Amino acid sequence: MVSSDPYTPVIRMRRLRRTPALRRLVAQTRVHGADLVLPMFVKEGITEPRPIRSMPGVVQHTRDSLRAAAVEAVQAGVGGLMIFGIPSHRDQVGSQATDPAGILNVAVSELSSELGDSTVLMADLCLDEFTDHGHCGVLSDSGAVDNDATLRRYERMAISLATAGADMVGVSGMMDGQVAAVRDALDACGDVDTAIAAYGAKYASAFYGPFREAVDSALVGDRRTYQQDPANRTEALREVSLDVAEGADLVIVKPAIGYLDVVADVAASIEVPVAAYQVSGEYAMIEAAAANGWIDRDRAIAETVTSIRRAGAQIVLTYWATELARTLTSGGA
Ligand code: PBG
Repeated sequence: MVSSDPYTPVIRMRRLRRTPALRRLVAQTRVHGADLVLPMFVKEGITEPRPIRSMPGVVQHTRDSLRAAAVEAVQAGVGGLMIFGIPSHRDQVGSQATDPAGILNVAVSELSSELGDSTVLMADLCLDEFTDHGHCGVLSDSGAVDNDATLRRYERMAISLATAGADMVGVSGMMDGQVAAVRDALDACGDVDTAIAAYGAKYASAFYGPFREAVDSALVGDRRTYQQDPANRTEALREVSLDVAEGADLVIVKPAIGYLDVVADVAASIEVPVAAYQVSGEYAMIEAAAANGWIDRDRAIAETVTSIRRAGAQIVLTYWATELARTLTSGGA
């Protein structure tokens, strides 16, 4: 039987959700363009930007189109750029990574002249785009990735990128000791102000799939002997603590959405700024579902980026950075 004195709630959580203005006032997480970093690809030897099929809306840039898109991103209000280079020639040791005339070094140098201190220019410091086998380091005779021999290549690459004008190098190869090696090499050359963004917790993820197309990756197999196992959580804390001890100025967790527990753990225990990378597969899933009419694209983008911020990432690397910075600045989203 229904009671004659029906229960009415005393506490009404819905009060603060009634209007957009109320919701805006009490929102605990905001995304600002300045929190976002745009990853960009530049390819040697092309005359027109090339679409990346699995990442609709993202292209492999020419040097000119890279410059134009970088200026556009900075004007839209993004906080920084992360540049990846795709050379025409690859070899065993990734020579183009350390050649001042290599595509990444040239592009960074051009962007540095164009943009000066108006943004934070970051460059990916890894060999996978430059090696003919596609691994992030050099191989030993047995075919394994040789950790310490790779560090010697990273040291040289760091100096090349600093000389080209990178404000920050994104050390992404997951070799042991890579941050200390890079810091030492930079300091020894007087590049004491070149900062290090360390991919502290980088998991061996299927969600890098479209990135392999984006950089014309030569990789056969996977990176499970150096990137982290998705099953592990506390290992990430050990990785980032080591990176911070070795001199990382900022740490990156990657991918983002499947690893928000790791983002939260790292943010709670580390004192340097924490970034998370919403990777190519995260981008592709939302774009593909939206193209099929299965998901509201703009809401899905805003929701995922907000969630990454809410989990504790102060900075988000996302292929939607320019678009988001624009809408956020114009008061949308
Ligand atoms: C390696 C690197 C990768 C990504 C960024 N840096 C690929 C990998 O580790 O296999 C992936 C980024 C993305 O998927 O958006 N230099």
